[in-house]
Amino acid sequence: MLLAAHLLTRFDPHTGTIPGVGESVRRLSELAGYFADEAAYGAALSKGDPIVYATSGAEPAAGAGDLHYALARLMPGRIGGEYYMTKGHYHAWRPAAEVYVGLSGSGAMLLEDEAGEESSLVPLEANSIVYVPGATAHRTINTGATPLVYLGVYPAAAGHDYGAIATRNFRSVVVEVNGQPTLLDRREYLAALGQGAGAYRHP
Ligand code: F6R
Ligand code: MN
Repeated sequence: MLLAAHLLTRFDPHTGTIPGVGESVRRLSELAGYFADEAAYGAALSKGDPIVYATSGAEPAAGAGDLHYALARLMPGRIGGEYYMTKGHYHAWRPAAEVYVGLSGSGAMLLEDEAGEESSLVPLEANSIVYVPGATAHRTINTGATPLVYLGVYPAAAGHDYGAIATRNFRSVVVEVNGQPTLLDRREYLAALGQGAGAYRHP
């Protein structure tokens, strides 16, 4: 059945907003434990609690073959050397893949397999599409100076599993080194910060 109200959605590619649809907002205080540099996180939070990212989702239908999609706006910024980023997640239904379409700004996606053996940093910016395979943890990172706006499209049945990442985080961090986004091993970065491997929560 064609439900006319669900067939067309107009959005603003510079803000990642859908007129008339409310956003779900993630502030810095909701990202406790996600950024590697705990001192820098505490210092930033003592100055304020900015919005790090906001999403507007659409769930037109929830049948077996249906799709859901969400626009997101990830703000520019850093905590220590680490760029502003999303929490990141697996899909609760592990086979569920996702397509990300970059709309404005510039950044990257950090992708990791579930065994924690492979990390990839894939550019995400206007005019680029990133395919996130099933069973792959995915996090978006803003490496630019303006908001990074993108669209994600995923199976309606995907669901979101934040627990694994909240517990052990990604194995890699993306930090600015000599002005360049650089993928580093989390354990080595924590050691360089003087936090030691004790703060590294991967098994
Ligand atoms: C949906 C999806 C994106 C994210 C968005 C926010 O499956 O991957 O729409 O939900 O980038 O990131 P999280 O959900 O990790 O806070
Ligand atoms: Mn997803």
